[in-house]
Amino acid sequence: MPTASIPGYRLGDPTLPPSPLTANDLSALKLSLLFGEADVTALRKAHNIVKDQIEAILDVWYGFVGATPHLLEYFCDPKTGQPVGAYLEAVRKRFGQWILDTCSANYDAAWLAWQEEIGRRHHRLGKNRTDGVAAAPHIAMRHVLALVMPISVTMKPFLSGKDASAEEVEAMHAAWSKAVLLQAILWCRPYTREGDF
Ligand code: HEM
Repeated sequence: MPTASIPGYRLGDPTLPPSPLTANDLSALKLSLLFGEADVTALRKAHNIVKDQIEAILDVWYGFVGATPHLLEYFCDPKTGQPVGAYLEAVRKRFGQWILDTCSANYDAAWLAWQEEIGRRHHRLGKNRTDGVAAAPHIAMRHVLALVMPISVTMKPFLSGKDASAEEVEAMHAAWSKAVLLQAILWCRPYTREGDF
């Protein structure tokens, strides 16, 4: 597995606690999002197109976060106000793998458990622990949801660059946007009161 070398990456780790969501809960959520089999096909096509553009995509996203002080703050040590370089780098590696995982579109129990863990890692329940850093302790849920927009919009040029028709690009872009929103929604679960999600 090429991913085994990414520190802190745990998709498929059998020791992760299972998600409280069932496969039926996930199916219902996909229906609400208009996410269907055609989206799975489109994402897997996108996988081929984005796999050798990961660093360029990450440059765009990190550029945005780095230029947006209230977002960059979450990578900073509150004592010094300075970004924690090693933290930015460690998260970047997992973020790159996440792009590929999102395009693999294998929505099984292991994937659901991993979504729960990524949610915790944005929340004070789990933030900073993976990398042992003393950055801001918690990311506001509103920003997790808001970031769906830039992460969706900025993907389009990367999907358009190769030999896909305009129609295929639209389909891949719509599927990508739904898949990002699906995950951001799942990541909000640790933020909600028992029974409210
Ligand atoms: C749609 C919204 C978002 C997406 C797709 C996203 C994606 C990711 C991914 C894939 C990881 C790596 C998880 C891991 O493997 O450990 C991660 C972690 C992280 N993200 Fe996000 N994120 C989103 C929202 C945000 C926002 C709004 C911020 C604020 C700057 C943020 C900051 C971070 C930080 C600091 C970590 C590391 C957390 C830790 O300490 O483990 N993310 N994010």
